[in-house]
Amino acid sequence: MGEKVMYDTIFARSFSRSDQRKLGYAAFLGCLLIALSFCLVFKPYSTFLPLRLNVSEQKRTKIVCSSEKRTELCEINGDIRIEANSATVFVSVSPQESIINNSSRIIRPYARKEDEYALSTVRKWSVKPVSDSNLIPKCNQNHSVPAILFSLGGYSGNNFHDFTDIIIPLFSTARVFDGQVKFLVADKNPRWWVNKFQNLVQKLSNYEVVYIDNETDIHCFNNVIVGLKRSPQELSIDPSKSPAYSMTDFRQLLRNAYSLSKTTAIKLEDSGDKNKKSRPPRLLIVARNRTRSFTNTDEIAAMGRNLGYEVVVAEADSNVARFAQVVNSCDVMMGVHGAGLTNMVFLPENAILIQIIPFGVAEWIVRDAFKYPSEGMNINYLDYKIEAEESSLIQQYPAGHEVLSNPISILKKGWVPFKEVYLDKQNVKLDVNRFRLTLVKALELLHQ
Ligand SMILES: *[C@@H]1O[C@H](CO)[C@@H](O)[C@H](O)[C@H]1NC(C)=O
Ligand SMILES: *[C@@H]1O[C@H](CO)[C@@H](O)[C@H](O)[C@H]1NC(C)=O
Ligand SMILES: *[C@@H]1O[C@H](CO)[C@@H](O)[C@H](O)[C@H]1NC(C)=O
Ligand SMILES: *[C@@H]1O[C@H](CO)[C@@H](O)[C@H](O)[C@H]1NC(C)=O
Ligand SMILES: *[C@@H]1O[C@H](CO)[C@@H](O)[C@H](O)[C@H]1NC(C)=O
Ligand SMILES: *[C@@H]1O[C@H](CO)[C@@H](O)[C@H](O)[C@H]1NC(C)=O
Repeated sequence: MGEKVMYDTIFARSFSRSDQRKLGYAAFLGCLLIALSFCLVFKPYSTFLPLRLNVSEQKRTKIVCSSEKRTELCEINGDIRIEANSATVFVSVSPQESIINNSSRIIRPYARKEDEYALSTVRKWSVKPVSDSNLIPKCNQNHSVPAILFSLGGYSGNNFHDFTDIIIPLFSTARVFDGQVKFLVADKNPRWWVNKFQNLVQKLSNYEVVYIDNETDIHCFNNVIVGLKRSPQELSIDPSKSPAYSMTDFRQLLRNAYSLSKTTAIKLEDSGDKNKKSRPPRLLIVARNRTRSFTNTDEIAAMGRNLGYEVVVAEADSNVARFAQVVNSCDVMMGVHGAGLTNMVFLPENAILIQIIPFGVAEWIVRDAFKYPSEGMNINYLDYKIEAEESSLIQQYPAGHEVLSNPISILKKGWVPFKEVYLDKQNVKLDVNRFRLTLVKALELLHQ
């Protein structure tokens, strides 16, 4: 996966003139983006630019386009004809209809609109009202259900981005149709992606996915949404937006799609009642193989067992259904900051997520990815910050090197050099004596 960062200078500049707290509130909501770790900059405004046609008695043509913090989309009702070849969504407007704003507009239907690098792999679609019937193509396929057109470009293939940029926005947009909707997917590796998430896709749409890029037919609909709805926060749904869905609804759908039987984490009884033997709480250690690996997994697992946990060590792969089962069977999930932690979506309610924060990475950088989302999912969140002694970086750099003594100075040089050192070259040997307290805390939370 190509990795390039467009916002180095902005990141460095903002950092140098702000302290950490200010940065928390600054324009970066999700600066550290997991394995890919791209830095984002949001525009601090949200606009709503309606493009409306007057509704006549006979034909209800309506085009409403909105531009929000992190996404843009058009919701269209009328005589809609989609021509993939020119990437155009034609809207036929009869000459009698009074048109308020009939100019066409361009949508890149991937819900991370502030990120130009992600959007560089997303095709532009134009939504084009046309009143001259000679300029509008004839339909080859008429569809009686609505369609949602969205992109599988951008950072698709990274588990965090698959959920935060595509799946949760798709749920927010499509759930209201209760399966009576067709998905028109565009861009990178769409068949691979659709196969990977087929259980979910099938819950949201009762129809075969249309791989729109290669279509030579003109597909016609009466109702099309180009683009996806999206909350400004990662891995979240904005419940104030209609239709009012929540992450609870989303997680319910996940349990359904993957037949996950456990809805609530174990509630540990106080040790007084010795007759009541319940199963031990299960701890999942999310392993990573290539970067940010634990180098003493066995030692961590042994300590967990000593505390009374049943310990499972597993690494996420492209078999979503398998890993969803593993995660759902556990009560506590721990792992080093990275896309694998996105699997928290499969944890039962009241479970505990422990994010291990690599050395040199400030808490505020990783909070947006998993701490804030945990609140919307009814998951308790703990984190544990790695000290220099627990990091493999002390073997790679001499004592006193600025990588060890002053990570902020590396961050000031830009995101890429920072990421290369602290996210790509760092492995972790947990100090099990210190970490023990975090696992004890997790046990306490399971008593509540
Ligand atoms: C829309 O059309 C109706 C009648 O068809 C008319 O009364 C109304 O003024 C029109 N509205 C606008 C904004 O043009
Ligand atoms: C019409 O829509 C275009 C494209 O979004 C927009 O730039 C323009 O400001 C709109 N004009 C009016 C009068 O609303
Ligand atoms: C938009 O409206 C203007 C003026 O009413 C008209 O001249 C133009 O042809 C219309 N454009 C389209 C694409 O319908
Ligand atoms: C699609 O519907 C239109 C309008 O009802 C009709 O003229 C056309 O023949 C239909 N095309 C196909 C392929 O069914
Ligand atoms: C679209 O066509 C191209 C070129 O033939 C092919 O490589 C690609 O796999 C096709 N995409 C889909 C989704 O079928
Ligand atoms: C990491 O992956 C390599 C190659 O697939 C494999 O040989 C190795 O055993 C893996 N290591 C761990 C710790 O899983």
